[in-house]
Amino acid sequence: MKPEILLIEPMMPEIEKQLDAAYTVHRFTSVAQLKESAGRIRAIATGGATGVPEAVMDSLPALEIIAINGIGTDAVDLKKARQRNIHVTTTPGVLTDDVADMAMGLVLSLLRGLPAGDRYVRDGAWGHKPALPLGRKVTGKKLGIIGMGRVGRAIAHRAQAFAMPVSYTDLRDFELEDYAFVPDLPALARKSDILVIAASGGAGSRHLVNREVMEALGPDGFLVNVARGSVVDEQALVQVLDAGKLGGAALDVFEHEPDVPAALRHCERAVLQPHRASATVETRLAMGELVVKNLAAHFADESLLTAVI
Ligand code: 8YV
Repeated sequence: MKPEILLIEPMMPEIEKQLDAAYTVHRFTSVAQLKESAGRIRAIATGGATGVPEAVMDSLPALEIIAINGIGTDAVDLKKARQRNIHVTTTPGVLTDDVADMAMGLVLSLLRGLPAGDRYVRDGAWGHKPALPLGRKVTGKKLGIIGMGRVGRAIAHRAQAFAMPVSYTDLRDFELEDYAFVPDLPALARKSDILVIAASGGAGSRHLVNREVMEALGPDGFLVNVARGSVVDEQALVQVLDAGKLGGAALDVFEHEPDVPAALRHCERAVLQPHRASATVETRLAMGELVVKNLAAHFADESLLTAVI
């Protein structure tokens, strides 16, 4: 008998094929639909932002492991998982480059106005409408990074090729040779031209980037978020952009995905992406393989490859 698992968020067809070969896979639609199989489901595979809704976790008494296809654990109740002896795994390392690449792509898109330029050419405006406003130079800008984990460091590394002096904040000073630690976030924002968020989501970082931080970044400053929407006070962001107190924002993540405030969708000084920082063929395959391997290790009673708990 194959173990039964619940797939909450779709994965690549190649990966789902492997899951289907090894398990009886229930594809999530609603808690009500789970009823008959709920008592037999021993594992969940899910995305980082999707996580596991409380009602789902509560409805699965035989749950042994949650394999997250991502690095964020903020959408899984880790406390409850610990209490119930449910293992949780993530996919660290394999998505670092993609997320850092997306951060740099957003920096370039925002400061050089790439989406607006693309629209201008496609719309046939070139030669017919006034030229687009000048962009802002990227090379040499002062970069501040919130969260100097794997992703933060990969962004810093890329920033060096753009001759950007890098400062960062985190819960502690990592004593990194090339990057300055600034413990105070508003102070980091004040000394940065571009502030990139690479910190974990969850209660500890909720609205860390508030009005004060955004105003410290200022009318010539740019905010980039490739982490979690919850780190930014989105209402305050809308207001500071509207009031011209922040130069611009490039966002891959939002507070209430997939809902994005209309004010952001219509804002000329915002560049928006639908949470796609790890969305490449290569990386999603590598992430999926890690999910598959963690599940296989669990059911073979071997040690998990990348366990959080
Ligand atoms: C993915 C993420 O988009 O790693 C995470 O926590 O949010 C992203 O890499 C997601 O996990 C896939 O659903």
